[in-house]
Amino acid sequence: MIIKTEEELQGMQRVSEAVALTLQKMQAYTQIGMSTKEIDEYGRQMLEAQGAKSAPFETYAFPGYSCISVNKEFAHGVPSDKVILKNGDIINIDVSAELGSFWSDNGCSFVVGEDIQGVQHLVDTSKEILLNAISQISGGVKISDIGNLMETKAKKAGYTVIRDLGGHGVGRSLHEDPSAIMNYYDRFDKRRFRKDSVVAIETFISTKSAYIQTEADGWAFTGSKGGFVAQHEHTILVTAGKPIILTAANGI
Ligand code: CO
Ligand code: CO
Repeated sequence: MIIKTEEELQGMQRVSEAVALTLQKMQAYTQIGMSTKEIDEYGRQMLEAQGAKSAPFETYAFPGYSCISVNKEFAHGVPSDKVILKNGDIINIDVSAELGSFWSDNGCSFVVGEDIQGVQHLVDTSKEILLNAISQISGGVKISDIGNLMETKAKKAGYTVIRDLGGHGVGRSLHEDPSAIMNYYDRFDKRRFRKDSVVAIETFISTKSAYIQTEADGWAFTGSKGGFVAQHEHTILVTAGKPIILTAANGI
């Protein structure tokens, strides 16, 4: 959406703080031995206490309130009482919600316990790329130049980017224009970021894969060539200068 009034700005700030605090608390709550269902239930209570409604549950009939993906699954993972977290697991929690007819989206990957699988560097790189990409966005910047930055930094660190998922406009619904804010350079994409627009910027950095594949449950995504994928996501307001990170309270 394009923010035109103070009320719209406040609405986006409120919902963004709700999803950001929920994500931050869910991460802090996560422990070895817990099921992803328990973490989801905790997140549901946090969203409800703030008057927010889970976007995936309300909009997509997703069987959970947040997407919680473990190890090879990196997005759209269905919370389950059968998925029990072990020391060294890589987990992604993605929280998106609606509050007062405004929508916001954020997510992060992290390692549970010790880095047994050697994925901490992947996680750190994904987070660094997100923050670096955001710092370069302002009104008039080409969307594909940000994709180029993400892809270049990922490659330099020895990783690939997922080419069939990306960031998106957000605000009056979960997914709006501009759609497909990709992690790679697309020379045919002439679009530019617009001042006063709200967008969700997200990384998908992988050890091996460039495309997704959907698991048998019809929801969870894994890399088509295997390996791990880390994702970090903020909802931001584009300005003439540095963006305002609306979900800054998630601590990414
Ligand atoms: Co998103
Ligand atoms: Co998200």
